[in-house]
Amino acid sequence: MSGVRTMSCQHEAGIPSAPFGVLRLPRNIVAGAGQRFAAAEMAASLGESVLICTDARLAGSHDLAELVSSLESRGLTVHVFGDTEAELPLLGIHRCVDWITEVAQKQVSSVIGFGGGSCIDMAKVVSVLLTHGGQPRDYYGEFAVPGPTVPVIALPTTAGTGSEATAIAVVSDSELGMKMGISSPHLIPFAAICDPELTYTCPPALTAATGADALVHLVESFTAITRERTSSLASERVFVGKNALCDSIALGGIQLVGRSLLTAYRDPSNTEARANMMMAALYGGVVLSNAGTAAAHAIQYPVGALTHTPHGVGVGVLLPYVLRYNFQAIQPALAQVAEALGCDISGLDARAAAIAGVEAVDRLIAGIDLPETIKELGVESGDLAQIAQLSLNSKRLIDNNPVSLDLNAITEIVQAAYAGDRSIR
Ligand SMILES: NC(=O)c1ccc[n+]([C@@H]2O[C@H](COP(=O)([O-])OP(=O)(O)OC[C@H]3O[C@@H](n4cnc5c(N)ncnc54)[C@H](O)[C@@H]3O)[C@@H](O)[C@H]2O)c1
Repeated sequence: MSGVRTMSCQHEAGIPSAPFGVLRLPRNIVAGAGQRFAAAEMAASLGESVLICTDARLAGSHDLAELVSSLESRGLTVHVFGDTEAELPLLGIHRCVDWITEVAQKQVSSVIGFGGGSCIDMAKVVSVLLTHGGQPRDYYGEFAVPGPTVPVIALPTTAGTGSEATAIAVVSDSELGMKMGISSPHLIPFAAICDPELTYTCPPALTAATGADALVHLVESFTAITRERTSSLASERVFVGKNALCDSIALGGIQLVGRSLLTAYRDPSNTEARANMMMAALYGGVVLSNAGTAAAHAIQYPVGALTHTPHGVGVGVLLPYVLRYNFQAIQPALAQVAEALGCDISGLDARAAAIAGVEAVDRLIAGIDLPETIKELGVESGDLAQIAQLSLNSKRLIDNNPVSLDLNAITEIVQAAYAGDRSIR
């Protein structure tokens, strides 16, 4: 153990030893079983009229009915948009904005996102459009949202995306043929209310996909690039790279995933595992929003658009290949991942301890029955060149990778992920 601590010394790893950190967070974070009822008081503190963005399944749920009645009992007028589509196509966002303009003349004092990442991202984008007008496309990239928006209250019903805590919303742009991100600190919700009871109805496949998403957020943020700590870094970038404040949160989240993902998947009624995964997802959102994710996310965007497979499944399949490509640059961090996932790495040398981290991630992904390759997701060999090319479009994610990536490098990762080649670079 002590050998590994020495080996993971920041200085030896080429990482500056002076601590540096960035954390931008929701103004209110409330987490715990039964805490969803805190939403009504928060919404009431913001004004009299609420828009809830949810999807067709959740619009008919008992949980949504309870939320609406708790808001109405405080005298709030509640408008429910129940047609959010998974992965958030642009057309649906326009439908929501048109509808709320018609029924409430845009006069809402808060927007509640009630659902998975798609519904929370819908709430975020709609709040931008209600406040600043225009089209989602006007805000693609970093820092394009010009100012504060109608406050968003996020109530996740999946334990995965962490969107409740992030400065990003992801939309599906069919014209561009890929998902696009709107990234701005103004998108961070006013409140993240994380009640694990809302996830009890998630079936195993959804628990797996969303749990993998949380794991990838935590591991990619923990192994992200370390940037030079200039005084303008936090104002130039939404995602600043690996940093001390995020690292401790990421390690805590990785521990929670290690302890509880397989249990939540195999035993959906295990309330402790559900609570741990909800917390891990929140931690994942915090670190992805500040340190930022990298290549697995960049490559998933075109893979998801091509195969129509869930985001969490795609990033989960890709992570083992990305970690192997990045291996030489992130060995100390991988050893810490191994420890956080419960591996005994005492007595191992630096390389073996890092390999233990990669293999522990492999076991988690296999344990929730995700496919091993992108071929199994529906990618064909003729698609690989286009996937590699399109991945480069996600510049913020490519820039955040700990190893610099050009077209050849991404092609190498994509080919390995297609062929199931798990050799370490
Ligand atoms: N903004 C961010 O920071 C961020 C981060 C990661 C991913 N995302 C985005 O989030 C979206 C994916 O979100 P997601 O994985 O949470 O899934 P989702 O919101 O797309 O929902 C997937 C399905 O799960 C169902 N569902 C949700 N909660 C349920 C519950 N409690 N019980 C049963 N079914 C339930 C939904 O009705 C839907 O059919 C993608 O668009 C992705 O790009 C955003």
